[in-house]
Amino acid sequence: MTDFDIMLVAGARPNFVKLAPLYKALAAWEKELLTIVHTGQHYDHSMSGSFFNELGIPEPDVNLEVGSGSHAEQTAAIMVRFERLLRQQAPRWVVVFGDVNSTVACALVAAKAGVAIAHVEAGLRSRDWSMPEEINRIVTDRLSHRLYAPSRDACENLAQEGVPAERVRFVGNIMVDTLRTQLPTIDQNKILADHHLEARRYVLVTLHRPSNVDDRETLTRLWAALQAAGRYETVLFPAHPRTQARLVEFGLPVPTKGLRVLEPLPYNSFLGLMANARVVVTDSGGVQEETTALGVPCVTVRPNTERPVTLTEGTNRLARPEIPSLLEALGEADGRRGRVPELWDGHTAERIAKDLVQEDPGP
Ligand code: UD1
Repeated sequence: MTDFDIMLVAGARPNFVKLAPLYKALAAWEKELLTIVHTGQHYDHSMSGSFFNELGIPEPDVNLEVGSGSHAEQTAAIMVRFERLLRQQAPRWVVVFGDVNSTVACALVAAKAGVAIAHVEAGLRSRDWSMPEEINRIVTDRLSHRLYAPSRDACENLAQEGVPAERVRFVGNIMVDTLRTQLPTIDQNKILADHHLEARRYVLVTLHRPSNVDDRETLTRLWAALQAAGRYETVLFPAHPRTQARLVEFGLPVPTKGLRVLEPLPYNSFLGLMANARVVVTDSGGVQEETTALGVPCVTVRPNTERPVTLTEGTNRLARPEIPSLLEALGEADGRRGRVPELWDGHTAERIAKDLVQEDPGP
């Protein structure tokens, strides 16, 4: 069957990494019936444009250019503009990714427009309702006609919530497709040399969750912990714009020698640095998964994770945002290699594409 019309919607940095392999897998069938919509939630080149170039996908067909705002402002702006678009184009499927505001906003609009929704990365649950992403995930899953789950625990969560089994597909983790495609194309030695680093002799850090960076006291404690770690080994911190803004706002001191703050990095550079780090410190969802896929130890600065498979099978462990907890986790991180979870095999996009193209969404 080739008579399909699929709209792929992305808005924020982690979405692009998930969209790329699915776009390529679907394009193998019938390119002209695919549309890429960018909501514009992320707009800095380092957070958006650089990903399209590097991941080998075309520029978006449509950019809704919503930009930043409060949750309500951002979500509402996406909904208004996406609804206008859906009035002009009537796809058979709207495909949304992950758990960002763009995901839930477009799912809500598609649901009311009567367009079938496919959710890539369905079923993840932190059970922490203080995270905007948890709300986004639950609402999106509730509205979706097809739910592509990355892990068995995600399927179980959906079953417990009463999602009919015929809507759920266990397909594996699509970020691993991108990782496996890109890694062999990267000159890892050059990336290390460019940053004056030696393999396994540095810590790579990403932190941007509001719970870690928007609270003065928490960010101050985290900052002290990273400075302390920097006294023993190099700590490289490519900082999200939100984090950079808070560091300035809270007047946190310019880093000492061991701790280096950089602009957000392009995907390939970050992947190369992740693959060679002694340990990665993060509060990102995707980085927890990527380190598990790479077998690189990971310390996640959060009280919980919606990706428990990275703890039980992978290389991940949780830590609190303070010096003793973080330094202890960094000290114990080595040797935690884990194993790669089921179906994180680089073929997730093919499984989704085959399913989407062959299935009729029905009423
Ligand atoms: C969003 C997602 C989060 C995801 C993260 C990945 C939601 C609720 N959150 O968080 O789940 O982990 O993306 O990066 O959707 N900004 C810029 N340039 C940009 C984008 C943002 O400067 O290109 C700054 C703005 O000050 C903006 C702030 O970052 O207000 C936050 O951006 P926003 O898109 O609201 O959320 P993120 O923190 O990026």
